[in-house]
Amino acid sequence: MNVVALVPAAGRGVRLGAGRPKALVEVAGESLLLRAVRGLVDSGRVQYVVVAAPVDEVSTVEAELAPLRSFVHVVPGGAERTDSVRIALAEAERIAPDLDAVLVHDAARAFTPVSVIRDVVRAIEDGAPAVIPVLPVSDTVKQVDASGAVTATVDRSQLRSVQTPQGFAIEVLREAYAAAGDAATDDAGLVERIGGKVSTVPGHPHALKITTAFDLAVAEAVLA
Ligand code: CTP
Ligand code: MG
Repeated sequence: MNVVALVPAAGRGVRLGAGRPKALVEVAGESLLLRAVRGLVDSGRVQYVVVAAPVDEVSTVEAELAPLRSFVHVVPGGAERTDSVRIALAEAERIAPDLDAVLVHDAARAFTPVSVIRDVVRAIEDGAPAVIPVLPVSDTVKQVDASGAVTATVDRSQLRSVQTPQGFAIEVLREAYAAAGDAATDDAGLVERIGGKVSTVPGHPHALKITTAFDLAVAEAVLA
């Protein structure tokens, strides 16, 4: 099965506040982006990785990924994550016309274990049109109104938090993006909108999304 990974890495990292795009921020001497892309390559299941870089950082990102040059294509990303994925998808279809499946993996989930990546690819191989790694929700979850007053306690046993990589049969992601108008928070959500079935595999705590300085500190502690 021919699989290409798309890595949206074009965000500014405003919440992290490191003064540079989050993908280029280093943990223990290596950028989040290099770590994320290496995980995909090390899974042994991905032919190419198409990285959407901040428009003004394309050459920086290419230099950053030089050790994995033969696997990587860098394209300038878009204004929203959805735009970056759309641009990367077009590039993937251009360079690999015989594509069967696509993984979409946030650069910010740099510590995702290779086993999660392999599980997602295997589920697609086994016939799932779309698959996402998920974790049970450990906090109690409440629904509130605009004033902050609680209106309901949600049944946590039916909830999952969602990670990446999200995997898709190529025609499914193509169709979902063709139908997508505005920005969506995740790619599987676009498949749901066109009535597609989305399956799950177990995620992993190490696949956390680095969003804030606290998350970066957690990642540093995990590595230490
Ligand atoms: N992303 C992207 N293109 C954008 C916005 C985001 O490729 N226009 C990518 C980010 O680089 C990241 C992933 O989508 O790998 C998830 O986004 P998020 O965690 O929100 O990262 P940032 O947008 O960089 O962070 P912030 O929202 O704090 O600025
Ligand atoms: Mg963002």
